Amino acid sequence: MSKITIHPERLRQFGNGKGNVFYVVTNSRLLDKIKIEYENHYKDYKIISYDKGDNFSRILSELIPEPAHILVITPDCYFRSPEPEHLGQHRKLCIMACNSTPTSVESIEHFLECGEKTDPYEQEKISEQFFAKGEAASHLKFVDEKCKTVTIFRHLDDGIQWHEQIGELQWGEQQLFPSGEISVLPVDIFTLNLNVKLDINGKLALKGIPVLHSGTPSFLPDDQERIFQALYAMRNHAVIASVHEGVITNIEASDPSAQSAVDMLQAMFDVDSRYRIIIEIGFGVNRHLKLFPGNSAMNEVYANNINGTVHFGLGLIPHTQYHLDIICPSIKVLSDKDELVFGGMK
Ligand SMILES: [Fe+2]
Repeated sequence: MSKITIHPERLRQFGNGKGNVFYVVTNSRLLDKIKIEYENHYKDYKIISYDKGDNFSRILSELIPEPAHILVITPDCYFRSPEPEHLGQHRKLCIMACNSTPTSVESIEHFLECGEKTDPYEQEKISEQFFAKGEAASHLKFVDEKCKTVTIFRHLDDGIQWHEQIGELQWGEQQLFPSGEISVLPVDIFTLNLNVKLDINGKLALKGIPVLHSGTPSFLPDDQERIFQALYAMRNHAVIASVHEGVITNIEASDPSAQSAVDMLQAMFDVDSRYRIIIEIGFGVNRHLKLFPGNSAMNEVYANNINGTVHFGLGLIPHTQYHLDIICPSIKVLSDKDELVFGGMK
């Protein structure tokens, strides 16, 4: 059987490896399936096992001395990010998001290849331009020209928080692998109260690729797949959402073929009304990432071209069982003066 090959020197997200040790942390099942192909820029290369119940902070202190570059690939168990004080000042950590959706060996190989092509410096440039244009705009508009929908987002609100998973990692930092996302969420999101909202109003065309992440409480992978398949109907035709103050008040299919996605979203809203809240707007900036077929968490940072691609997030793990991202390549983000800030097809 062929092995998953990792080329540490090609992963520019980590920056220069000289003088450091490169670690892969993975489930024991994958230990002998992973091979490191190296060019000796690093001082050494190691593979360490991590399974359900293991304490990553302990692994860091006992097995991974500083300085270190660490890539985590643990599809079999939920990986909790370490606190900054445990990560330490001279480690860099990259995490493949591979437990919230099913992750095959093929998809790991696929995203490693995307990670090799990922350009952190390009991402930094895109982000700089995005923030410069964004700060000059009084509000942002999400426009789908074909569906003729417009949503207004008041993005300068103090009650929101911007996060970046982009660029070259600095010491003491951690990031998704492959990287490439700027996201915005309401500030109080991490408290138990999901009753905080982004200021979004209007009609939104949800047309594109869903990613259905599942949290750690018990769930059946078959259910996750069935829900994903119903939602997947929105890849060709939009679900038109009416949004009032960040909450989806109504959904309808723009075409009969999107009806199964509407029905499934409605069922989710009925079971847990918090799925109606647009909890996250994501700005994917990794145009070197190719979408992997099916339900795949690592698709999230996808960008259709250098202008980036927007996605919208419903539900928040661990408060809801699922987090649904809907990647919408056709949506353009315009300023109040109708200048293109982000997104759209090329
Ligand atoms: Fe996101």
